[in-house]
Amino acid sequence: MHFFTSLLLTAATVQAHYTFPRLVINGKPEEKDWSVTRRTKNDNTKQGIENPTNADIRCYSSSNAAGIATVPAGAQIHYISTQQVNHPGPTQYYLAKVPEGKSASNWDGSGNVWFKFHTEMPTVDKNKQMTWPGQNEYKTTNATIPKSTPSGEYLLRVEHIALHMAMQANKAQFYLSCSQIKITDGGSGSPGPLVALPGAYKSNDPGILVNLGSIQNAPETYQPPGPKVWSG
Ligand SMILES: *[C@@H]1O[C@H](CO)[C@@H](O)[C@H](O)[C@H]1NC(C)=O
Repeated sequence: MHFFTSLLLTAATVQAHYTFPRLVINGKPEEKDWSVTRRTKNDNTKQGIENPTNADIRCYSSSNAAGIATVPAGAQIHYISTQQVNHPGPTQYYLAKVPEGKSASNWDGSGNVWFKFHTEMPTVDKNKQMTWPGQNEYKTTNATIPKSTPSGEYLLRVEHIALHMAMQANKAQFYLSCSQIKITDGGSGSPGPLVALPGAYKSNDPGILVNLGSIQNAPETYQPPGPKVWSG
């Protein structure tokens, strides 16, 4: 690669940071940024989190939002991104049920309370180009709230794990948001396994410390970090 090209690419990489300030439910975005989604500490810098054992990994030390969005079980959700989600890596979604007597508008999401309901795997095309669902879009990929999720208040968490530098420890970048929601028309499922954040991830998990080049010929061997997906 020529020196100048590589400089330009480096500059582009530095700018490619993002936040997810707006939840979209069945095609309808929250009315303005950070109205049911909690404003994350990196609202200005848009910097990702590099150490997945840091307390920021839960909800990015965000401030509570004013509202709570109603989300029917079975709804399709995604987030609008402030920038193009151009880095390779999976998008994952988690939910945590607000305990009895607490509210989604201020509960902190602590404890073994989070279950994962969506993850993603890469594909490799005939030109050996690896791609991820939703890569290069200005939004995160869709996920469906499982129909059997019990009704009630929850924190909804989205993360995109950027893996372009992940061959070095603590160089994967986590971009994430948490939203305050109320699930209606739910079912009688028992979501799990339940994990804590931080706690669910270690810096050397095979889906976090990973050289994507080395799985170029076997994309199905990628191991998304965290618990198994609960699909209802
Ligand atoms: C994603 O969900 C929206 C509704 O929020 C829908 O309009 C769109 O078709 C879905 N896209 C895909 C690829 O399923």
